[in-house]
Amino acid sequence: MPAKHFLQLKDFTRGEFEYLFRRTRYIKEKFKRYQPHQTLTDRTLAMIFEKQSTRTRLSFEAGMHQLGGAAIYLNTRDTQLGRGEPVEDMAQVVSRMVDLVMIRTFEQATVERFAAHSRVPVINGLTNQYHPCQIMADIYTFIEHRGPIEGRTVAWIGDANNVCYTWLQAAAIFDFKLQVSSPPGYGVEPERAGIDELSHYEHFPDPMDAARGADLVTTDVWTSMGFEAEDEARRRAFERWRVDAQMMRLAKPDALFMHCLPAHRGEEVTAEVIDGPQSVVWDEAENRLHTQKALMEYLLLGEIKDESK
Ligand code: CP
Ligand code: NVA
Repeated sequence: MPAKHFLQLKDFTRGEFEYLFRRTRYIKEKFKRYQPHQTLTDRTLAMIFEKQSTRTRLSFEAGMHQLGGAAIYLNTRDTQLGRGEPVEDMAQVVSRMVDLVMIRTFEQATVERFAAHSRVPVINGLTNQYHPCQIMADIYTFIEHRGPIEGRTVAWIGDANNVCYTWLQAAAIFDFKLQVSSPPGYGVEPERAGIDELSHYEHFPDPMDAARGADLVTTDVWTSMGFEAEDEARRRAFERWRVDAQMMRLAKPDALFMHCLPAHRGEEVTAEVIDGPQSVVWDEAENRLHTQKALMEYLLLGEIKDESK
């Protein structure tokens, strides 16, 4: 049977996410009580990084250790990938030695080519197009704080980047509305969303209008990894796309603020908002650990029916 992969959020159904979130809650509660949860003993995860990371590396590596397995960190500089070994050959070799692979790279096509030649499940740890592990953790965090996200309104302020396109997929899967505001030239291109219908999406030229009535306001850096050459032009274009207290006042009074991190205070968000009472950014970061433990377990063991395991 071909391995199951997690390359885009839409690779999983809503039912699968509901299972993963139930499992995450269980795994997180055990973690908080210092109870071991070692369902992946003797399993090995290879993590391939072609871009930098703090949270993704830490959460996958710590997560795999906590599940009883081992994690190996690989990067372009120290592997033959950096000297041009084809990704297909790398996939053949890596997937004969480990049980699971996580990749952070530039092009989505790279993770797809890797997965097509891998014997074991492959997880997208961020590409230029998508960041599914992040949004899985973000949706879980929203539900923890506010209950179901179905029927709610999420405001995305800023660049239509990998995180934004993953929120677009999430809106279709979980049935909520995504109000997006991006500067001209940096907006959503519907064909890049990877979904057939965009009925959950609405664009607002003015960022203040996108935030109006939202249950959650979220943003990300103006310049993502790989786009550093555009930094100066982006700083000028994004000047009005900053989440500040005035914008948060237009959202619902109990609206949450999220940011996948790392953040630039004073650019895409003010310190007052990210360090303020509506911000749940630290829960968001922590939940990367718990949701990805559930994900790794699911990819290797499938759905666990016995609630005591
Ligand atoms: N949010 C996120 O993926 O962070 P890192 O780049 O630190 O992994
Ligand atoms: N959009 C950002 C997210 C970093 C976690 C980037 O791709 O750099």
